[in-house]
Amino acid sequence: MLKRTIFMNGSKVTFVADAEEKLSNVIRKQLGLTGTKVGCGSGECGTCTVIHNGKVIRSCITKLKKVKDNDEIITIEGVGSKDALHPLQISWMVHGGAQCGFCTPCFIVSAKALLDANDNPTREEVRDWFQKNKNLCRCTGYQPLVDAVMDAAKLIRGEIAVKDFWKKLPEGSSIMGTEYIRPSALAKVTGTWDFGADLGLKLPENTLHAKIVQAEVSHGNLLSIDTEEAKKVPGVVAVLTYKDVKGTNRINGLAFPSNKGDGLERPILNDKKIFQYGDAIAIVLAENEKAAHAGVEKVKVEIEELPAYMSAPAAMAEDAIEIHPGTPNIYFTNHIEKGAETAPIMDGAPYVVEDSFYTQRQPHLPLEPDVGFAYVNDEGQLIIHSKSIAIHFHALMIAEGVGMKPEDVFIVQNNTGATFGYKFSPTMEGLLGVATMATGRPVYLEFNMKQQITYTGKRSPFWTTMKMAADKEGKILALESDWSVDHGPYCEFGDLLTQRGFQFGGAGYNIDHIRGNGRTVATNHGWGSAFRGYGAPEIMFPSEVLIDELAEKVGMDPFDFRYKNVYREGDTTPTGCAPDAYCLEELFDKSRPVYELAKKTAAEKNAKAEAGKKYGVGVSVNIYGCGLDGPDTSEAWAEITPRGVSVGNSWEDHGQGADIGTLTYAHETLKPLNLEPDQIDLVLNDMTKTPNSGPAGGSRSNLVTGNATVVACRNLLEALKKEDGTYRTYEEMVAEGRELKYMGKWTAPCTDTPPETGQGNPFAGYMYGVCIAEVEVDTNNGKTKVEKMTLASDVGTIINKLVVDGQMYGGLVQGIGMALTEDFEDLKKHTTLTGCGIPKIKDIPDNLHLMYTEYKRPNNFYGASGAGEMPLAAPHAAIINAIYNACGARVTHLPAYPEKVLAALNN
Ligand code: FES
Ligand code: FES
Repeated sequence: MLKRTIFMNGSKVTFVADAEEKLSNVIRKQLGLTGTKVGCGSGECGTCTVIHNGKVIRSCITKLKKVKDNDEIITIEGVGSKDALHPLQISWMVHGGAQCGFCTPCFIVSAKALLDANDNPTREEVRDWFQKNKNLCRCTGYQPLVDAVMDAAKLIRGEIAVKDFWKKLPEGSSIMGTEYIRPSALAKVTGTWDFGADLGLKLPENTLHAKIVQAEVSHGNLLSIDTEEAKKVPGVVAVLTYKDVKGTNRINGLAFPSNKGDGLERPILNDKKIFQYGDAIAIVLAENEKAAHAGVEKVKVEIEELPAYMSAPAAMAEDAIEIHPGTPNIYFTNHIEKGAETAPIMDGAPYVVEDSFYTQRQPHLPLEPDVGFAYVNDEGQLIIHSKSIAIHFHALMIAEGVGMKPEDVFIVQNNTGATFGYKFSPTMEGLLGVATMATGRPVYLEFNMKQQITYTGKRSPFWTTMKMAADKEGKILALESDWSVDHGPYCEFGDLLTQRGFQFGGAGYNIDHIRGNGRTVATNHGWGSAFRGYGAPEIMFPSEVLIDELAEKVGMDPFDFRYKNVYREGDTTPTGCAPDAYCLEELFDKSRPVYELAKKTAAEKNAKAEAGKKYGVGVSVNIYGCGLDGPDTSEAWAEITPRGVSVGNSWEDHGQGADIGTLTYAHETLKPLNLEPDQIDLVLNDMTKTPNSGPAGGSRSNLVTGNATVVACRNLLEALKKEDGTYRTYEEMVAEGRELKYMGKWTAPCTDTPPETGQGNPFAGYMYGVCIAEVEVDTNNGKTKVEKMTLASDVGTIINKLVVDGQMYGGLVQGIGMALTEDFEDLKKHTTLTGCGIPKIKDIPDNLHLMYTEYKRPNNFYGASGAGEMPLAAPHAAIINAIYNACGARVTHLPAYPEKVLAALNN
């Protein structure tokens, strides 16, 4: 043990701790300064950054013994506070630098150290600094963060004043379409926005710490679990296996009726078999974290290993055994039939191309690992706090499994350090429920980054073959496709994902005749969960690369070929319905000067390039739909209060901006009441208080829950309205004994796309984009560098410009990762952020450009669509097309590692 007296944020503090203890633990758990976060815990992500004696360090890899008496440490709490913000904190808010906010405190701390040393850095020096100090952000695409530092430096140098760039709106203004700062930004930049692990430190003393015993094989029969030694570890209170589960021990995967499985194949704690690496076999519950870890080490598990099928083709092989006995490995199929039979058209067409493609098991890589806690409240209800982005779904999916009635399970979403979709599926909710039900005590569980990566779902790989035909003039005639979805061992939403194969294959173009077959396949690799774009990045990669191949065959420029074929008035989507806006032609018109300049720039660079360096330009159309398929419904409420109005919904927040979304819809609708935004109180994502707004997936929330919020506010206005056209006050409503709270519900006027034909009108809205990528390929070593990305988008009315820009930047950058570096395939290598290929700031160009058109959408009260998923629909295809344009290497299996580029070059 060590006693230390140090200057913490300028104040003298004394404490005693283990010399070997991580400084991050001392700061967070002993000194209570939770603005410092822990993401990876191993020095990769920078979320634990503090300044130690003027130097930036990562506190998760710094032992306390490195800190001496009288040392000075600065954390975010010492940089500024809500009443005395540092220029960096102001600038971060103004530039939308805090999306989920998990990286925010430590980026600001890191930037403070830079500006303390140099208040006039260049953009490149800022990027070098963040690269050197390993500051990662998975949400923002980095560029807004550099913008924020540059403006903060100007503020510090006195070249601008706060009022010059934080333009506050005049009282009474509408905030719709503005850069109004999201309500959570202030807490995020000051480090007071509590995430799950921060709340975990505020739980009652009798809370148990949980750790799980996980499988280290991918497929096997579970022969025995011996927990006796683990139970003897001092501090261990219980060791739970499937035998201790009070319910069915199954997650309900909500399978489609035509799914050949029952959707109940995923155990909470594995009982008979192991289906994938990382499966949970036992839960150790202890009075403290260390004892729980020690208990995990003592659990003995005997497994008879079985052949592991690590890809869709392997699991589809004739001799493959059934992963879930009684259910075929191909457990769901679908088919699209639009227009006439395609075979004769293909036979007679002058131009036909065909190719096969693979999109990888992309890992989500949020910087905050999965975390949650559970307890039983005084009414006997099971309350689970987690990162869920589908709180009502998840209560339904786990209730019977843990032994509760669905109506007695309530999920609350903690402030969430991003999910990008993985939390569309339950992760630890079932484990927490089982542990609390077995012990009657509150239980806390946090994953480390390796568990985050290996236990939670991934983007499902698609194995696709696609064929396309065009006539002599370059008009696309027909499309055929065949896609196999490797969904890992658990089916939940795998059927829905497979539907995306026909909904977005060829999207953006009028193709009259389409045939295709898709299938969902059980394998033993990481199970599939939703990931931003959900199906579009997987199927638009084939279609957007094949379009380039077809353009080449026809002899047209790929930009012109697309322009000729994109949706025009009267054209229909692959599912045979009218798009909700015919904006692609204008987006192409806007993009053309960028494309022409990019081609000219590439030609000039190629003319004077050093040996082996090649430059090229690629283009892609990006489309995604908004909504769960068919008549998607959402609910919200609005209530008059003494200080204004409270608005409640379950618009779960990955970090994308549910708070500003709800606020903007409510503020605009409640205009007759002349409320300032801060008079609207937001009540979000707590099933004990908020209604079923459906999950925050499929880019639906802005359109569907936005509408439900509008309806609730309209209903409230209607109730407040007096005969003379004025509105009752809260006091008048109470005096007249009137209801104060009003529900709102909205249902999309849509229809399913049945798996037999794939025809229908499944989405309440669509988002459209044209992406242009400019790359450098080093043909000596196969390395690709993305030099510039431009995205022209139409997401309908922009509800909040900062948020929409943020989604575009973030999506593009995840597209760069998908194109070049990201994967979860190798169970040894792909278990860290770096190993999985997360893009660092210097992997991303400081050259991301956004343009917009705003065609009003018919299904949203303010003309909006969604935003978050379209920018990841196909930027990776634009990059792959640019690689081909640069050097002639056509990579069809992602990611385009250097060796694949070299192999394609030699083809
Ligand atoms: S670098 Fe410390 S938590 Fe990631
Ligand atoms: S805002 Fe940077 S990780 Fe989410």
